[in-house]
Amino acid sequence: MQKKWWHNKVAYQIYPKSFLDTTGNGIGDLRGILGKLDYLKELGIDIIWISPCYQSPLADQGYDISDYYRIDPRFGTMEDMEELIAKAKERDISILMDLVVNHCSDEHEWFQKALQDPYGPYADYFYFEKGVNGQPPNNWRSYFGGSVWEPVPGTDLYYLHAFHKKQPDLNWENPALREEIYQMMCWWMDKGLAGFRIDAIINIKKALPFTNYNYPPDRDDGLAAVTTMLSDAVGIGDFLGEMRDRVFHKYDAFTVGEVFNVKEEELADFIGDDGYFSTMFDFRAAVWGGSPKGWYDSCHITPQAYKSCCFTSQKLMQNVGYLSNIIENHDEPRGVSRYIPPQELSDPAKKLLAAVSFMLRGLPWIYQGQELGMENLPFSSIDEIDDVSTRDEYEVARRSGLSEAEALSAVSFYSRDNARTPFQWDDGKNAGFTTGTPWLRVNPNYTRINAKAQMRDKNSLFSFYQALIALRKHPDYTDTIVYGTLEPFMEDAENLMAFYRRGEAQTLLVLANFRKESRTLTLPAPVKRILLNNYPSLDIENDTVVTLGDYQAVILDMTAV
Ligand code: GLC
Repeated sequence: MQKKWWHNKVAYQIYPKSFLDTTGNGIGDLRGILGKLDYLKELGIDIIWISPCYQSPLADQGYDISDYYRIDPRFGTMEDMEELIAKAKERDISILMDLVVNHCSDEHEWFQKALQDPYGPYADYFYFEKGVNGQPPNNWRSYFGGSVWEPVPGTDLYYLHAFHKKQPDLNWENPALREEIYQMMCWWMDKGLAGFRIDAIINIKKALPFTNYNYPPDRDDGLAAVTTMLSDAVGIGDFLGEMRDRVFHKYDAFTVGEVFNVKEEELADFIGDDGYFSTMFDFRAAVWGGSPKGWYDSCHITPQAYKSCCFTSQKLMQNVGYLSNIIENHDEPRGVSRYIPPQELSDPAKKLLAAVSFMLRGLPWIYQGQELGMENLPFSSIDEIDDVSTRDEYEVARRSGLSEAEALSAVSFYSRDNARTPFQWDDGKNAGFTTGTPWLRVNPNYTRINAKAQMRDKNSLFSFYQALIALRKHPDYTDTIVYGTLEPFMEDAENLMAFYRRGEAQTLLVLANFRKESRTLTLPAPVKRILLNNYPSLDIENDTVVTLGDYQAVILDMTAV
């Protein structure tokens, strides 16, 4: 594998709407990010992905872009963006924008022109299709519920939207559309971006012609998940290879793909040397236990399953490319509330999860607030939830026969709004996020969990993340942590997640006791040094017999093993 400048970095995701509001309108903004660059520098991160802040009606929180060349006034101005890129650069921090090009907003000029002239050139920027006997062209269900097809007013045509009806899919088969996208990407790269996080990209290639691909319904609504068609959609590589050659190569861009449902045999094409992208997120644990029926029917993940997901991905990718590891993002519940059984949640348990995730081979990502151990929000009513996807899943749960309380409890666990609650800066009003009314409720635990308190406390989650980042960059260990191979240790031991990282200079051993009881292990060699510990000490007898407390995690430097 070719070494790249970004391999030894640490990346951070900002969800601008919930980061810091400097205007008092209840919505975070770019000046809020600017004001916190020093906070991020102190944490130690190097790359920031900013979720969409382009002009948007915010039907899907900015993932519905109505003008790719403008910043939404609620988030600030283009000058703010330019200043942010420049000020970040002064601190050796690279900025990634979110590239949302599977779809745009129905309020985008292209779509408006398409509606005005449904047989004209702009209709070809989208999928405008004739129905069959007065019905939509096929039975695909959108990610956010209902048919992917929406009537084009005044015609017998329908337009396709894999997500919300305000997010019409762009027609990647049309070279004119692709040209517009590449131009726009270059325009942004010329502003000094390091690259992009690439949204929902697997969806740009459809199984065509649409009418040939009706699938057996997977729910009572007679529809089949739009993802079903992805296995019949052949040839996405032509588009992605073109994008790489036309844009990424030109700028030596760093890119991270949001890629679900990739065919295993295509992994190397995606992130191998000269893959379409630099890296892609590992979502194996995030999708574990999912049900075609909906969130209400999904299985909650166990520590044992979490371990198995991580190791499966690691083994699969070790010789293919460099993964991006996450605990959570803006589409997932808070990792500490998901991967740690709720009755066992504690600071050591949160640190254990952090240590494990950071020590996997790959690029570690922190989603805003993860460094504080921010938790899921206990929702008391569906009215508190803003997210389109959670609202749909709530209806699905209700239709299956669940009571209101049961449906709320089922969707609360997975709701995307868990991660979108305002960042908890301090213990003042609205956690210091806004002087106005926050767009989403602040988690009431902000008096206990906030940045100000944690930055002063050397035992805090924040300090632990700092230590993990410092270890990754430590000149003696960086090569092993960044490039060393991963080899599970005592893989079959229930609720123990343990692995070696073997590099040229040394062998490290990560031990994580994923349960509320202590356990004693005999190591095959003496411990040379404890590099990081989420407990004040480690019980070692005769150099090799180690007793881990509940949720204790240690990173050990081992003598020759
Ligand atoms: C991606 C985004 C998600 C959005 C969807 C549609 O999955 O991360 O937030 O809803 O794409 O753009």
